[in-house]
Amino acid sequence: METKTKGLTPRLRAVAELVRHGAFVADVGTDHAYLPIALVSEGRAVGAVASDINEGPYLRAKKNVEEQHLENKITTVHCAGLSGIDKYSPTDILICGMGGELIASIIDDAPFTKDPKIRLVLQPMTHPEILREYLLKNGFEILFERIVKEEKLYQIICAEYSGKNKNIDYNDAELLLGRLNINAGGEQLVALVCHHLNILERISTAKHSALTDSTFEDGLIEKLKEIKNDCSRAL
Ligand SMILES: C[S@@+](CC[C@H](N)C(=O)[O-])C[C@H]1O[C@@H](n2cnc3c(N)ncnc32)[C@H](O)[C@@H]1O
Repeated sequence: METKTKGLTPRLRAVAELVRHGAFVADVGTDHAYLPIALVSEGRAVGAVASDINEGPYLRAKKNVEEQHLENKITTVHCAGLSGIDKYSPTDILICGMGGELIASIIDDAPFTKDPKIRLVLQPMTHPEILREYLLKNGFEILFERIVKEEKLYQIICAEYSGKNKNIDYNDAELLLGRLNINAGGEQLVALVCHHLNILERISTAKHSALTDSTFEDGLIEKLKEIKNDCSRAL
């Protein structure tokens, strides 16, 4: 049977593929509800709750769910973050297309996520380093990571709570790019490194001109260059 996740964009397809078979999904900031509709239609998820803080996206999600006649399997909810979502007992929580800081604060505001049975699939648009630092400091383990290319490069982080290992042994490059992504290597990693090198080199140049301290950026630039060289050699 053709899976409906094939109708998703590469970014959302990669998120869908990290959802466990038989999951009950919570999609926070669902907007059009594309993810829960695809996951339930293909049978990967048994049901879902699709929530959004804003009325427009919530109404769009509700309309799309109704058009697919999936109201019996997907509940649409107008709420902030994960507030009130614990009563649906989601097994897999998706928070995609928001800043890393906001994703971390949504998780932090919902203590029920600190449950080893719950999987988080997260796709930060910005500040993946803040999100990784939050996860690692709060007892979540990063199980899988992906880099996906559409018109931009996106990072996807899959984590579960273990309660162990709250001491971070990640360096700044690993927080930014993902240790698993660095270990996996590949063309998308090189592209992601080049993207960050570009930004960091511009910041460093500006700081040098303004005679301000660029130690952080310069150190990270060196680490990223090493990763790029190692990875390019392996391609
Ligand atoms: C860029 S869209 C991403 C839609 C979809 N998740 C995706 O990745 O394609 C971000 C959505 O998150 C919603 N949102 C922003 N902050 C939120 C919050 N604190 N709680 C729930 N939804 C939120 C917005 O209303 C918007 O619909």
